[in-house]
Amino acid sequence: MCGIVGVTGVGNALPYLLRGLEKLEYRGYDSAGVYLANPDGTDFLVKEKGRVSALVAEAQAQGVYGTAGIAHTRWATHGNVSVENAHPQASSDHRFHLVHNGVIENYQELQGQYLADVTFASQTDTEIAVQLVDKFAKEEQLSTRDAFAKMISLLDGNSAYGFLLMDSQEPDTLYVAKKKSPLLIGVSDHGNAVTSDAAAMLDMTADFIELMDGDIALVKPNSVEIFGADGQAVDRKPFHLDIDPAQTDKGAYPYYMLKEIDEQAVVARTLAGHYFNDEGEIVGIGCGIGDTIKQADRLYIIAAGTSYHAGLVGKRYFENWANIPTEVHIASEFAYDQPLLSEHPFFIFLSQSGETADSREVLDNIKRQGFPTLTIANVMNSTLTREADFALPVLAGPEIAVASTKAYTAQIIVQAILAYSLGDVELDLKQELAKVAVEIQAITDEKMTFQAIAESALQNQHSAFYIGRGMDAAVALEAALKLKEISYIQTEGFAAGELKHGTISLIEEGTPVFALLTQAKTAGLLRGEVAQVAARGANTITISSKSLARPDDAYVLPEVDELLMPLLAVIPAQLIAYYATLARGLDVDRPRNLAKSVTVQ
Ligand code: AGP
Repeated sequence: MCGIVGVTGVGNALPYLLRGLEKLEYRGYDSAGVYLANPDGTDFLVKEKGRVSALVAEAQAQGVYGTAGIAHTRWATHGNVSVENAHPQASSDHRFHLVHNGVIENYQELQGQYLADVTFASQTDTEIAVQLVDKFAKEEQLSTRDAFAKMISLLDGNSAYGFLLMDSQEPDTLYVAKKKSPLLIGVSDHGNAVTSDAAAMLDMTADFIELMDGDIALVKPNSVEIFGADGQAVDRKPFHLDIDPAQTDKGAYPYYMLKEIDEQAVVARTLAGHYFNDEGEIVGIGCGIGDTIKQADRLYIIAAGTSYHAGLVGKRYFENWANIPTEVHIASEFAYDQPLLSEHPFFIFLSQSGETADSREVLDNIKRQGFPTLTIANVMNSTLTREADFALPVLAGPEIAVASTKAYTAQIIVQAILAYSLGDVELDLKQELAKVAVEIQAITDEKMTFQAIAESALQNQHSAFYIGRGMDAAVALEAALKLKEISYIQTEGFAAGELKHGTISLIEEGTPVFALLTQAKTAGLLRGEVAQVAARGANTITISSKSLARPDDAYVLPEVDELLMPLLAVIPAQLIAYYATLARGLDVDRPRNLAKSVTVQ
């Protein structure tokens, strides 16, 4: 989950590299570094622990410059967070510099076999790679490309890499290689770039070439050469990315997360407009998907984190509207503990980034078994969308905050639309989604209510609960993840009926317990469970739908079709998490230890 950027042929590369890193910081922010080179042989390496801003300050203070360069913002996998372990990593003689996103599984074996006599400056697997390039270039008189290719050929098959290498003897050339970790080449008539995420280089170009697994590329100021896994030159056509750079800026918002929470009403309308025509007929889902799913006897939804939680909600649509038994699985578990499958399974992958390694592992396994696959994702030029048989966009626009919000509600909506297209449902879904958009807007307009709830219920609290039954239990899991991942308050999402079987022992005087109550069938039981925890000292905060509300509930949600209530119930939880985090003076968009796209297993 690191961020990689490189540029060549743009005059002074530094501003592009630093701006690119700022856009990539969501991918990891333990440490950052930049290497720059010039035709006159001068070169510079600057690395800082912590945020990109620390690197920017140091690089500018040193007045470094270069006509080509590479840069990296890190999410630590091998080696602790330190300047020594920051990238770029250099060969001992400082001829080669390398940045890397991924994991080299066999780095210790390679070190023992080839580099026993080398003194290492870091604890990283990346340094092994750059020292190998140096060794092969010198001892075997290989060209940089061949030394790079030889190093890559030695990496264990499970290794993942996005490499960007510079050779101080070829100061205008970027050597690029990719396997599993996404890398794109940005092309323009005023220089070329390499980036983990196209959005990071939109101020330079909107035309990108997607590298495929096994590709090696040489990027120069006026040329790009790409060689496939077989070493033969390949011609990969650029695609034009139609994103307004402003979409990737916070604008007047203090944090991306708040902007993205506010965008959910628009996203709901966008999806209704994309997937339905004016007559209310579904148009955005190719017939191939529907026909293939209709041949299935069971659906398997595979995802991680928030996307997994979206699948728990989507299951209800496929079972209630499309009448297809549906299982929802955590990708990292399914990948190595595959359950007995039905005879005709169909697999749906949910992902915001489309790059989650756990989910990609399952997709590879399922494709090998020959089963049909669909990816529902926000980033459509991504591995999961490219490698599945079918793909559907959630059209949420760039989601930058590490805590996923608009992608979650968008994934739920697309699942609802897909399930709706497969069945004969009385509900007018297009009209209901229009109501959902209006009500999401109404809830997000009451931010001060949720700020007050967050500050009163969570101040000085070290733990909290979200409880619910049925679909509300699924939303409770997502609500809990939102709160814990950015405020660091240990929060559990719990099926309310399960509390009395053990976990209720954790309830103390003042423990905040948020109850989500939107499902009529179990409302009475949930009221009872709220009373049970209150009787043991809990501070209960009930968020209920209008038809089920009671006067002392903390917040009453507007009403839409009960199966769509998760789209409303989650909004207060998103805002409560946001304000609880603000109250603690924490960075809402960049929570510790996390990254936006988890591209390692
Ligand atoms: C969500 O708030 C988290 N950042 C995380 O759980 C995320 O949902 C998970 O890593 C899956 O990512 P994906 O949707 O890009 O596959």
